[in-house]
Amino acid sequence: ASLRARNTFGVDARAGKLIEVDDADALAEILASESDEACPLVLGGGSNLLFAGNPDGPVLALGSRAFRVIADDGDHVVIRADAGVQWHAFVMATLEQGYRGLENLALIPGTVGAAPIQNIGAYGVEVETLIHAVEAFEHDGRRHVRLDREACDFAYRDSRFKREPDRHIVTAVEFVLSRSGMPQLEYAGIRDELAAMHIDNEPDALQVAEAVIRLRRRKLPDPAVIGNAGSFFKNPIVPLARAEALQAQYEALPMFRVDGAATRKLSAAWLIDACGWKGHRDGDAGVSERHALVLVNHGSASGMQLLDLARRIADSVRERFGVALEPEPRLIGAEW
Ligand code: EPU
Repeated sequence: ASLRARNTFGVDARAGKLIEVDDADALAEILASESDEACPLVLGGGSNLLFAGNPDGPVLALGSRAFRVIADDGDHVVIRADAGVQWHAFVMATLEQGYRGLENLALIPGTVGAAPIQNIGAYGVEVETLIHAVEAFEHDGRRHVRLDREACDFAYRDSRFKREPDRHIVTAVEFVLSRSGMPQLEYAGIRDELAAMHIDNEPDALQVAEAVIRLRRRKLPDPAVIGNAGSFFKNPIVPLARAEALQAQYEALPMFRVDGAATRKLSAAWLIDACGWKGHRDGDAGVSERHALVLVNHGSASGMQLLDLARRIADSVRERFGVALEPEPRLIGAEW
C-alpha cells in the first residue's frame, strides 16, 4: 500500500501491509493473528515522521474517533479521546463546549494519539500539562495499560513513548480541562495578534485559539498545500556557558530559559536562517520561505533527499556555531 497520502511530507513510501483497526479493544486479537512479531508502526496523521525508507513491518492505523467527559467536579473535567480523533477538531470541540486549556495548541496537524508521543507544544503550552493519563496497548505483554502523567516521563518534544518507540500503541488520551482559568499569553506573538484583532480585554479561550490559528496560518506552511512536518529540528538545549559565549558573539540569537538555570534553549530557526538556508531548494527538497525550521517537499522529493538536506543543514550549523541539531520528527528507515 502507498503511504503517500498518509504522511504530510507526501513522501511515496510503501507498506508491505496496512492494518486498519476501528476498535482498540480488538488489538490483542488482531495482532495475535499477525505473522510478524514486531510491533507495527502506528500511523496517526503522519505529520511527525519522515519516511527515509519503507517501514520494515506492517503499518497500523487506528480509526477510533470518540471522545466524552468521564469525570466532572464542577470546574475541572476529564475528557477521554480515542487515538484516531483529529487533533484540531478535538481542540475546537472542547473550546466550544466551554472547556479551556487546549486553545494554544489549535491547528496542530495530526491525531490525539500522536499528541503525547512527542509532547506537542506551541505558544507557551506543552500538552503534558493537560494530560491526565494515556491508555495504550503494550505490544510485548499484549495487554492494555494506563499510564498516568508521571509515568509518561514527558520532556520537551519527548516522552517515554518516543524513547521506547516499539513498545506502546497509544489507544486513547485523558485530558484535564477546566471551565475557568487564565489564558496563557506569555508568547508575545499571541498578544500582538490579539491586539491586531482589537481584543484588548481578557480574551476568552476561543479568541486565543483564533489568534493562534491566524499566527500559524501566516508563519507556517500548510501541509495540505506543500508537504512538510512542521519544525524539522528541535530547539537545541545547551549549557549556560555555551549559550553566553554565543550571545556575546551573536546578540540577536534568541534564547530561552528552560527548567534549570544551568541550560538555555536556542532558536534553531535563527541558527539555520543565519546559515542562509531559508527558501533554499535542491530539486523538490527545500526549506520553507516562511520559516527556516520547516523542511518542505515541493512535489516528489524522496525521504532520502529530504534527509540529505537536513544533514547538510545540521552540518553547516555545527560548523558555524558549534551547536548540534537533532530532528524533531521520527525517522523511519534511517538513523540520524
Ligand atoms: N526565526 C528566524 N527565522 C525564521 C523563523 C524564526 O530567525 O525563519 C527566529 C525568530 O527570531 C523567532 C524565533 O526564531 O522569534 C522563534 O521562532 P518561532 O516563534 O516560530 O518558534 P520556533 O522556536 O521556531 C517552536 C516550535 C513550534 C511552535 C512554535 C511556537 C519547536 C521545535 N518548534 O518553533 O512547533 O509552533 O515554537 O510556539 O519547538 C512543531 O513542533 O512542529 C512546531 C511547529
